[in-house]
Amino acid sequence: MAYPKRLLRTWFQHTQSPFIANAPMFGFAEYSLAAAVTKSGGLGFIGGGFNFTAESAQLTNLNGQLEKARSELGDIPPTSSLPIGVGFITFQPAGFIENAIPILKKHRVMAIWLSFPESDADHLPIIEAILQARTQSDWDVRVFVQVGTVQAARNATQQGADVIVVQGSDAGGHQWAQGASLLSLLPEVRDAVEESGAASHTAILAAGGIVDGRGCVAALGLGADGVVMGTRFIATAECPAPSHFKETILSSSDGGVSTVKSTQHDVFQSTDVFPRQYDGRAIIGVSYKEAESGLSQEEIIKRYKNATEKKEDYRRTVWAGASVGVIKKLLTVSELIKNVQQEVKSTLDRVAQRI
Ligand SMILES: Cc1cc2nc3c(=O)[nH]c(=O)nc-3n(C[C@H](O)[C@H](O)[C@H](O)COP(=O)(O)O)c2cc1C
Repeated sequence: MAYPKRLLRTWFQHTQSPFIANAPMFGFAEYSLAAAVTKSGGLGFIGGGFNFTAESAQLTNLNGQLEKARSELGDIPPTSSLPIGVGFITFQPAGFIENAIPILKKHRVMAIWLSFPESDADHLPIIEAILQARTQSDWDVRVFVQVGTVQAARNATQQGADVIVVQGSDAGGHQWAQGASLLSLLPEVRDAVEESGAASHTAILAAGGIVDGRGCVAALGLGADGVVMGTRFIATAECPAPSHFKETILSSSDGGVSTVKSTQHDVFQSTDVFPRQYDGRAIIGVSYKEAESGLSQEEIIKRYKNATEKKEDYRRTVWAGASVGVIKKLLTVSELIKNVQQEVKSTLDRVAQRI
């Protein structure tokens, strides 16, 4: 099978091999994390949110985040592309074209990531509007669509996505409730993209449970052109997550047991707004354990609200992937990316010795 070579390096020339992006984790992937990832040779993403109304505080905040990202990256002329991407949650797409695209175009972001639509068809007008803006100007932007099923990958490819982000069920955070791990999902998506005839201009990234060079090599072997890491980037110095989140991730092990995929994580903290085809993987926390021991949902929600009023965050859901047990140290983003690059080489050597 002839895989297209180096599409990602052509589009994102500042990036190094292997291609690494941070997931656009809303509320966690802010300008500080995104800029550090880009400075270290990856592609940094900011989480842009899910509200695209004209009055959206999320879009106002995004505008500020993008200004800070440009100044953090230093020597980029204002008219040049900003080597940063922005990710959006798209289950309420109204206003995206009118209110989000102008901000993204003004800042000349290099990538727009779409994930979690109510229906895949909702992405079509958005992707068409982005591609039209690209054709009609010198804004060189690429569209990423995160998918959790082979059919969603086919739909995104047909709709004109440049990059398909394949999210396996080991992923931290929201994801397809019914899905498969990267081991089975990624090769089938690679085959589907090849069969569609779009492989020469479509790149594939792997997301879900990748935290080091070993996962990276596995993903490349399964057919990815690069990787996305979410949970691993939470435990970095540049991520603004509360220290309780970082400590919980660093002290958790045996992720298949210590994390669980469920819609309940959102129910307990009154954030259950995702369409029913999605759930989320998080560390089993106080609320989940109370539910297992028979406490009513109403009482758990009440306890959550009481704790929040007292500014205690120990009940907040710590979204994390199933590879959480491999994350042992808080690192800077630059240390993390260097470690992964080196570990990819040593893993490949080890594999070569075994065959
Ligand atoms: C804390 C957290 C928040 C997330 N928020 C988002 C989000 O806002 N938008 C999105 O598309 N994906 C989000 N995700 C999922 C990621 O895009 C990605 O699929 C996932 O992090 C990959 O798995 P990993 O965490 O094991 O690396 C989030 C993941 C985590 C861990």
